[in-house]
Amino acid sequence: MPKIIIDGQEVACRENIPVLQAALEAGQDIPHYCYHPGLSIVASCRLCLMEMKMPDPRTKELVWVPKLFPSCQTPVKDGMEVRFNTERVRDNVKHVMEYYLLNHPLDCPVCDKAGECYLQDYTESGGPATSRMVEEKYKNPKKDIGPHTLLYQDRCVLCSRCVRFTDEIAGTGELKVINRGSRGEIDVFPGAPLANALQGNVVDLCPVGALLDKGFLFKQRVWLLKHAKSVSPVDSRGQTIWIDHNAEGIHRIRPRFNERVNEWWISDEARFGWKFIYRADRLSQPRTRNGTALAPVAWEALPDLLRSRIEQAAAGDGGARVAAVLSPMLSCEEAWLLAQFIRDLAPQATLVLGHVPVTGQDRCFPKGFKIMAEKCPNRRGIETVLAHFGGPQSTFAEFLGRAVEGQVAAAYVTAGYPEAWVDDRAVTALRKVPFLAVHDLFPSGLDASATVQIPAASWAEREGTFMNCDGLLQAFDRAIPPLEGVKPDGQFLFELAGGEGLFRSHKVRASVAAAVPALGDVFEPRPLPEHAH
Ligand code: SF4
Ligand code: FES
Repeated sequence: MPKIIIDGQEVACRENIPVLQAALEAGQDIPHYCYHPGLSIVASCRLCLMEMKMPDPRTKELVWVPKLFPSCQTPVKDGMEVRFNTERVRDNVKHVMEYYLLNHPLDCPVCDKAGECYLQDYTESGGPATSRMVEEKYKNPKKDIGPHTLLYQDRCVLCSRCVRFTDEIAGTGELKVINRGSRGEIDVFPGAPLANALQGNVVDLCPVGALLDKGFLFKQRVWLLKHAKSVSPVDSRGQTIWIDHNAEGIHRIRPRFNERVNEWWISDEARFGWKFIYRADRLSQPRTRNGTALAPVAWEALPDLLRSRIEQAAAGDGGARVAAVLSPMLSCEEAWLLAQFIRDLAPQATLVLGHVPVTGQDRCFPKGFKIMAEKCPNRRGIETVLAHFGGPQSTFAEFLGRAVEGQVAAAYVTAGYPEAWVDDRAVTALRKVPFLAVHDLFPSGLDASATVQIPAASWAEREGTFMNCDGLLQAFDRAIPPLEGVKPDGQFLFELAGGEGLFRSHKVRASVAAAVPALGDVFEPRPLPEHAH
């Protein structure tokens, strides 16, 4: 591990990183625009310059050199000495910032990026307090450059992060720099908008408010948002995310850096795929069958009802005709509680891995970012739970096969998919189950045959862990309260399994981990300092 001296302090840093990265990781807030650790280095913005000691050609003694060096383009080397906290470095930042502000509009009060804008932050920390610009500012046009993205060119500092992202990470190259000098602009090729499957990332990595998400435009000031740590449920990769929310609900989803999964990026599916939470047809009231219709029932009445009907179905054969379907949308803790509840009542009950939705093929992007075909977050976690419980088990297709032959007397089916998932085969098969409890987000073809319907909460309204397709266990926090009338799945299953009080996933996980250590081994990504992404 190389050791370098930054502003008189010895810093141990990772091998082969630029001095800028080492300084950021050591907690220094060094101004920079063009540098991004996930992209190639162009050293074009000149904000990160530093002083460095080099050998005097005559005496070979290490001396401070009068010129400044780009810290983003200088790799760390054991024993090197650099400094940022000097008059010359501060002067450079001030003058470069003055240059960036020449044509920049003073529209922070209406800019979406205000509050998280590098231009605003660096102006405040080291830029000029006033402008000497007397000429009229050059006004660049605003552009609609894709289905999700607007470009406010006036605000652009031409750092080229967005261009390099589309070239290097998405591999689609839609963006380019056209013209030169103060007339330089970002643009798309005619007839080829920014429309790749990772396009939303350019909004995050734009250090100023030039690239904007149409869905978030003028919706919220960022300082009014809270940030919940979460894991995207859209596929089996387990992309880590921030859910930005407040009392009005969810406003946006952003990547949460994860060195083992998605690094600084997320797919558009993960970014934009949360609106189902606010669909008007969400189930919000438990109901039980009353003749041909489902009638509302109190949450408090459900545990006894479920227990007595499952015990009845299990009488005589230990529950060989009872089944619980563990959806891969459940967290590991929720799946554990459901399996425990069913097996306590019916030791011979079949535990079923729920429907695993698959769309197309896995996609791998040039530098390794992946979008998985498996559109659920926790198949591996459910399989790990099933492996622990042992006993009779089946796939969802086998379960339907048994149901259609009348071999299932009682079933508890969990779902929670954002898309419709019940096909004709499932409807026909589950119609034959005399006692069917369906725990789901939306109405489905099973409504006509369900004996009990239990409204589910979305992942953003719950907490727990998902195990991704590589076996990595990651925790997600609750971002928003559940829809009115809905009890979070974990809370309900905790009560069903005999728990008292409040369901807390980490407490359940601690007891689960005593039996299955893999379900307690949660990976926590390294947090990034401010301005270090
Ligand atoms: S639009 Fe944003 S990311 Fe792209 S060059 Fe301009 S400032 Fe940089
Ligand atoms: S020149 Fe170093 S961050 Fe731009």
